[in-house]
Parts: sequence; structure tokens; C-alpha cells
Amino acid sequence: MSFPKHFLWGGASAANQYEGGYNEGGKGLACADLISGGSHTTSRKITAKIEEELLYPSHEATDFYHHYQEDIALFAEAGFKAFRMSINWTRIFPKGNDAEPNEEGLAFYDRVFDECRQYGIEPIVTIAHFDVPAYLSQEYNGWASREVIDFYARYAAVLFERYHEKVNYWITFNEINTATLSIGNFLSLGLQVGESEFINQPDNLQQRYQALHHQFVASAKVVAYGHEHYPDLKIGCMISYMPRYPYTSHPNDVLLAKQEENMHSKFCGDVQVTGKYPYYAKKYFADHGFAIEFAPEDQAILAKGTVDYYTFSYYLTLCVSADEKVTKNGHSMIGGSGVNNPYLEQTEWNAMIDPVGLRIALNDIYDRYQLPLMIVENGIGVSETVAEDGQIHDDYRIDYLEKHIAEMEKAIDDGVELIGYTIWSAVDIVSASTGEMKKRYGIIFVDKYDDGTGTLDRKKKDSFYWYQKVIERNGL
Ligand code: BG6
Repeated sequence: MSFPKHFLWGGASAANQYEGGYNEGGKGLACADLISGGSHTTSRKITAKIEEELLYPSHEATDFYHHYQEDIALFAEAGFKAFRMSINWTRIFPKGNDAEPNEEGLAFYDRVFDECRQYGIEPIVTIAHFDVPAYLSQEYNGWASREVIDFYARYAAVLFERYHEKVNYWITFNEINTATLSIGNFLSLGLQVGESEFINQPDNLQQRYQALHHQFVASAKVVAYGHEHYPDLKIGCMISYMPRYPYTSHPNDVLLAKQEENMHSKFCGDVQVTGKYPYYAKKYFADHGFAIEFAPEDQAILAKGTVDYYTFSYYLTLCVSADEKVTKNGHSMIGGSGVNNPYLEQTEWNAMIDPVGLRIALNDIYDRYQLPLMIVENGIGVSETVAEDGQIHDDYRIDYLEKHIAEMEKAIDDGVELIGYTIWSAVDIVSASTGEMKKRYGIIFVDKYDDGTGTLDRKKKDSFYWYQKVIERNGL
């Protein structure tokens, strides 16, 4: 077995990390536009309005808004069959719930899709990638409010109507399960909680799950609407999938790994694929005393709007232990039960590098759902510089991608239906978690730095040429 003939090789991005042009073309403010830059060790600041002395990485990002033609030409040169991107909600509806969509914003994405199509590149479009209009956050407390469901559904309906002939593959929410992590509070749920000068509400996990429930309902409404009006469209979910390994074969470690993997990596996919909450989630909510409010129609909406394909991001695996003596020297990425896996290397940003884990994930997910799968993010963040010869010799990235692609091929051989792979990221873009430029993932370098300086010039890294060959030979 090898990669199927029409396998969707490509690269990925997200509007808030890549597009820039934050106040051009009638675009409104998004929550991401109110989060300052940070680093591995300094946290980011959330502000109520734009403060002159702060640097907001989303404002210019790596400026796809003005470089889309050049970038898409580079994707074509690399041989991309697909380009995963997201639409800025506030470019279409500046406040999120305006009476009419912004024609200038719609026209921008028409140009982007036409450019892709000209090269035979299939756009894979995320409707909301860590993207909530700031107005909806401030007026409605973001996704905590049920009303946001219909604002989102209208936004998606406008996108389907406008682009259904140009875009076949849609994803409703990026990494919907990260809403359950505190990073999701403001960025992906638009909740007015956290520690900042203007937000003083303590984090509230029950509220996060309620907001997530509203996203499930919104996603299902949009999938059902798409099926009814545009039956040819494929509409998928997107999960941040992180397998949990037990640190030892002690049954308590094994049980804990299963429980954590269920609630982190499986819960959201289960809802979006099967159309109902899984039994273990109900138990988790009962154990935590959380009451998730379901409107009378919600169950039927979830059941009607199940997804056509399953997409996920894969960066790392985690290792957990139920033994406090072991966890006291825990792993910073997970805290609590997380421990370092002694068999794996870590990236500079403490992600465990685990290509075999990808084969495990692919098999587990396919076994559970039997739906076509797509890996829409996979890659390595590295601080890198241009060498003296003017090139970027990212052999570590080639090594990382090569090993993951080899495991994908084995999973296909195992019988998994894998239809696409878009690396994170096509071009260097701002890091979602830390807001840094320093943490580079691209196969195309962008001359842009954490202090906001840089010419924005693009340069192909060694991995660009390597990936070009991989695609040319369909993964062989
Ligand atoms: C995923 C997100 O979590 O991982 C992306 O969907 C993000 O938006 C990527 O950029 C890598 O994470 P980070 O924080 O290193 O940029």
C-alpha cells in the first residue's frame, strides 16, 4: 500500500497567525487582535482596546493579506495539492453579528480561492480558527452565550453561499477540544475571564464546557445546513489529538491514561462524529458537579449535524502517572499527572517527538469512527536563523516530517483511510500559544522578528525542496 492517488499533500495556516491587515478592508477587531506578544517564559497580555506601547502579533503577522499571490505561487512550486487556511470572521462580519456581510472581506477570499484554483490547489477552509469577534466577547461573553450560535451559523451560511463552488472541504472549528484548556478561554471561546487589567473573572471550567457545548451545537447546525443546501461539500471536525501513554504498566497508570485521553482527545470527536455526548463525559461532569445546560432541541441538532470527515492536529504524545512520587518531577506541558517519556526526545518548546505515536493515533481514531481522516497540522517549532550562505538548513524539520510521513504510510498499510496531510506550517507564522515569531514551523522562512521588525521577504528553506520531492513522488 502507498499513498492514494489523489492524496491531499499540502500546508496549513490560520488567519489570526498569518493574515495580518487587521484593520484593512473593513475588518473588525478579533479577540486575537487584543493579545500582545509573549515568549516561552513571558505571558501575553490581554487588553480591552489596542494600547499603543504594546506589540500585537496578529496585526501584521506574516502578512498573507498582501502576499497571498506570492505565497500561493510558492505553494504551487512546492507541488501542494491542498492549502489549509482559515477565514477571519471579522473580515466578513466586523462585529460578528452585523446586519450585512462586508463585501470587501468576501472579495478578498474570492481572490485567494481563485488564486489557489488557478494552480489546482484545493483550499481546506476552517470557519473559526481561534477566532472570536472582540465585540461578541465584550457584549455577549463570547461562546458562554447561546446567542452566538446563530451569529456563527449565519456567518457560515454566508461563506457556503459565496464559496461553495470554490471550496469543497470545510472545518467548523479548529482544535475544538482546546476550549477545555485555559488557553482557550479568550482566544477560542472569547470568554471574559482570566487575569488582566480589565478581566477579573476567575477561570471557570464549567463555563468553558458550557461554551464548548454551544460550539458543538453551532457546528452541528452548520453541518446540517451544509448537507441540506450544498450536499457536495465535505464538512469536518478538527481535534488536537494527543495520545496519552501510561508511564508504567501499573493498572492505575493505564486507567488514568485512558481517562485523560477520553476527556481531552476523544470527547469532542465523539460528540461531532456520533452526534451525542459519550457516557464517560456524563460521568466526568457528574463527578465534577458540572451541569451542562441543554436546550430541548440540542440533542436532535447534534444528532443531525454529524461530520463527514475527521481532521486532527498531531504534534506530540503525553505520558501520565498516577503515582505522586513520579509526577513531582512532572512534564511542564501537562502538569499534574504528566511526566517525561524517557524513550522520546523533546523539542525546544518541550513537545515530545513521537512519530510512532502518529500511527497509533491514526489507528485509534479510524478504529473508533471509520471515517476518512486528514492530518491538518503536524510539524516542529524551532528557533532558526539564516545561515552564512543565505540559506535555512532545517535538516531537523526534514527529519521530523520524514519520520512522521513514514508512520502515516504504515498506518495506510494498516488499513486506515487517510486522505490528506497539511504540514504546520506552510510559511513561518506567529505561534498561537506564545505569540512568538521565534518559534518557526514553516518550510518557507519569513523575515519577521519578535520585535515586529523584518522585511517580510520569503525564502525557501531546505525542507521546502525536500517536501517538493515527497509530493512529486506521492510520498515514496
Ligand atoms: C495548534 C493550533 O494548536 O498548534 C495552531 O491549531 C498552532 O494554531 C499550532 O499554531 C502550534 O502551536 P504553537 O502554539 O506552537 O503555535
